[in-house]
Amino acid sequence: MPDRSKADERSEAPQQLQFTIQPLGWRVSGALNQTYEEALRYAAVPIPTDCGSMGTCGKCKIRFISTAPEPSAAGIRRLSENELEGGWRLACQHAVRDGATIEIAELQRGPQTAERPVNQEEALQPGVEDFEISLSPHEQHVAQDCDQAIANALGEAVRCSPYAKRAFEDRPANQSITFHVVRRGNHVLQLVPRSVSSHLLGLAIDVGTTTLAVHLYDLSKGSLMASETAYNPQRTWGADVISRIGHVRQYGDAGLSRLQHAVVDKLNVLVERVCEAAEVSVTSIFKTVVAGNPTMLHLLAGVSPVGIDLSPYTPAFLDSRVYAPGQLGLLGHPEGEVLVLPSISSYIGADIVAGVMATELGSHGAYELLVDIGTNGEIVLHADDRMYACSTAAGPAFEGAAIRDGVGAVSGAIDDVRIEGGTIRCSTINGEPAMGLCGTGLLAAAHELRKSGLIDSSGRLLPGNGPLATRCHGVGADARVLLESAAAPISITQKDIRALQLGKAAIRAGIDTLLASTSRSPSDLDRVYVAGAFGAYLSPERAIGIGLLPDVPVNRIRAVGNTAARGAAMVLLNDVRRKDADAIVKQVDYIELAADPEFTQRFLERMAFP
Ligand code: FES
Repeated sequence: MPDRSKADERSEAPQQLQFTIQPLGWRVSGALNQTYEEALRYAAVPIPTDCGSMGTCGKCKIRFISTAPEPSAAGIRRLSENELEGGWRLACQHAVRDGATIEIAELQRGPQTAERPVNQEEALQPGVEDFEISLSPHEQHVAQDCDQAIANALGEAVRCSPYAKRAFEDRPANQSITFHVVRRGNHVLQLVPRSVSSHLLGLAIDVGTTTLAVHLYDLSKGSLMASETAYNPQRTWGADVISRIGHVRQYGDAGLSRLQHAVVDKLNVLVERVCEAAEVSVTSIFKTVVAGNPTMLHLLAGVSPVGIDLSPYTPAFLDSRVYAPGQLGLLGHPEGEVLVLPSISSYIGADIVAGVMATELGSHGAYELLVDIGTNGEIVLHADDRMYACSTAAGPAFEGAAIRDGVGAVSGAIDDVRIEGGTIRCSTINGEPAMGLCGTGLLAAAHELRKSGLIDSSGRLLPGNGPLATRCHGVGADARVLLESAAAPISITQKDIRALQLGKAAIRAGIDTLLASTSRSPSDLDRVYVAGAFGAYLSPERAIGIGLLPDVPVNRIRAVGNTAARGAAMVLLNDVRRKDADAIVKQVDYIELAADPEFTQRFLERMAFP
């Protein structure tokens, strides 16, 4: 239970308490008796709560720079002695105190930097165009109105938006004027006098369950101007889509609105940041393309995802949708459009459609596999001019969640482990001091421990001997191996290995099921693309070594990173690709694993380590 002892020393009058987050200097208000986690969540400050504030996941760590409260029982269980001494506590276990100053572990880490999301060869045909027209005083005089003036200049009928009309009416009288025109088809969206700087901009957005990515493009040149990523603030309502759907089921419209506002507000922060970095105005954004899984897209659109989580897994929509930015609350020119890409099924979303497009699955060889590994594993197989797809619950282990010392693929995360001559060596992303174990590090650690005989084929941690004995602690379910003895020691535990086994068995059984539908040998696969933040750091040898991926020559395995953002950017830059996205949806046969009688048997077999 939260430690509310001090908070109980209160008057009955409602009271707002303020605390400060350093080093950002943000001041956040909390109500009396509210926990820090609740107050941060309502202030849309990202703080993960993978256990739903039960005090069991240990993810909501905050450090008190001002005097720390007495540790809660849950904090004592979840935090190391060093952490407790250093002022770290669980935000979900302590009531807000006025004047406190804290820092947040998750904000210090920050998500992985965005990668360049699209290749240069993509044809530039964004569906909105800009050009200049000059109107003499005579041409302005003979035209009845804005529509006619622009139509006369272009030699074709057009319809001007209220914003274009206002700019036309506000022009200086009796002067020649040159307008920068932005139009979509025959719809003139905006007129800007040449004297005012203007741009034609677009956004490619990936709404991930864990991470949001926003990429700003100059649609006149096809160039990337700026990128930003952030954790999806909806994490505070659970690490996976099921928890978030559960929130909507429980709280109805209020819950839906809360989740929609959380993600839209955060996206707008990222949009403002990319525009600031590029020194452009958000009102120059005329096109936005969004990819994401079906639940994320429902929540973004303010449409209830309830039904996606229970059989028969019915979503409210799968088709592509077009919105005005204002309908969603997103920043952009009011006459711009937001295109939400289509999905294939309740669990094979627009992010996978975008991934198929970004990898051009099937165009290089007849037999290719795309595996997007996150909380869910989505798998697409291209064989004999057809595509087969399935989705399998991999659990959060690959994203570093639900792992005792787990973190996302962020700076300082252990992403590789080697055991040589009885010594354990860890490397971290960006060479930063180790601060946790990400999915690839977990996989590497399990692979090395298996090779060293510290894990048997069933996944059981065995007592170490020789120099490694000092690294092995506990027995049975409490067994663990110390990987890094940093200020906050980082271990891999028996439970972590079980979580990894569940995840890798689910994905591999999904792959096996798709491969079985073609009656071709896995060794014939021409390419295996591994997408997602997890895939960016994946070692093919290790993925094969623990039985996650089929045994193909390692040079056929490609880590392709965030293909969702890349596919969205392809549609942003080339409007013709909207049709490609719709065509992909029609080309894919969705295979429901729950209905496959052999899936469970495959899953059980793949739990073992090779
Ligand atoms: Fe606080 Fe899980 S321990 S949210």
